[in-house]
Amino acid sequence: MTAKISFREVVKTYPMKDTTFTALDRVSLDVADQEFVTVVGPSGCGKSTLLNMAAGLAEPTAGEVLVDGVPVTGPGPDRGVIFQQYALFPWLTVRGNVEFGLKLTGLPAEERRRRAEQAIELVGLSDFADALPKTLSGGMRQRCAIARAYAVDPQVLLMDEPFGALDALTRVQMQDQLLRTWSRMRRTVMFITHDVDEAVYLAGRVVVMASRPGRVHTIVDVDLPYPRTEEMRFSPEFGRIRNAVWHSVYHQAPAA
Ligand SMILES: Nc1ncnc2c1ncn2[C@@H]1O[C@H](COP(=O)(O)OP(=O)(O)O)[C@@H](O)[C@H]1O
Ligand SMILES: [Mg+2]
Repeated sequence: MTAKISFREVVKTYPMKDTTFTALDRVSLDVADQEFVTVVGPSGCGKSTLLNMAAGLAEPTAGEVLVDGVPVTGPGPDRGVIFQQYALFPWLTVRGNVEFGLKLTGLPAEERRRRAEQAIELVGLSDFADALPKTLSGGMRQRCAIARAYAVDPQVLLMDEPFGALDALTRVQMQDQLLRTWSRMRRTVMFITHDVDEAVYLAGRVVVMASRPGRVHTIVDVDLPYPRTEEMRFSPEFGRIRNAVWHSVYHQAPAA
């Protein structure tokens, strides 16, 4: 079966003054359709670079990135991208922001409105559809950004530390919200985080990257069923997996 997202021997280099900096060194990774994969690794190991390539916002120096078996040549409505800094238009309401993401789809206004309502409901913001971003908490603003991505109904969600700026409690709530949404929509998710607990809680597989040069270090299977629960978070099995991921992130052997 064709992978939903496929990185094949992906290399990314940047020219430096006298040398070449290798940000990614022959990264190969397949993400299956409907899979939830998280990516962790030390700062600067190339996580964002990798995700941006799938988003069509960066190009590999060598190798290829495929979505549904087709090389990525640019952004597209089949892939929704959510960054840590939720870029909402401050002069638009929640509904306005979510509908804005649908402008480029060419859908009639009525259908845009219907899809926006649906997405807003999905993230639990229906009571705030007419609110301006400045009147919302950070978590709500991020939910609005997520609703905007969902409204377009992308096959693939690419999330780059989307909950990084949130406080611990909001973060946990957002994780559960996201998992609930994912279990209803069953899209393919590639989710970058620097939080090992978050990586394990969300994923079916955790991809651990190493730096200098950026590469895939280990892939840890999370053998816990969905839906994930609070009890699971405190279970010995969860702890065992978290420790394994933690160890491979923080005790990486230098590249050969
Ligand atoms: N435009 C660029 N020019 C030179 N180096 C870059 C550029 N963009 C990213 N890098 C370098 O590539 C590496 C990977 O960056 P990034 O993908 O943002 O890492 P991560 O998201 O894992 O923290 C970093 O060392 C970064 O400094
Ligand atoms: Mg990054």
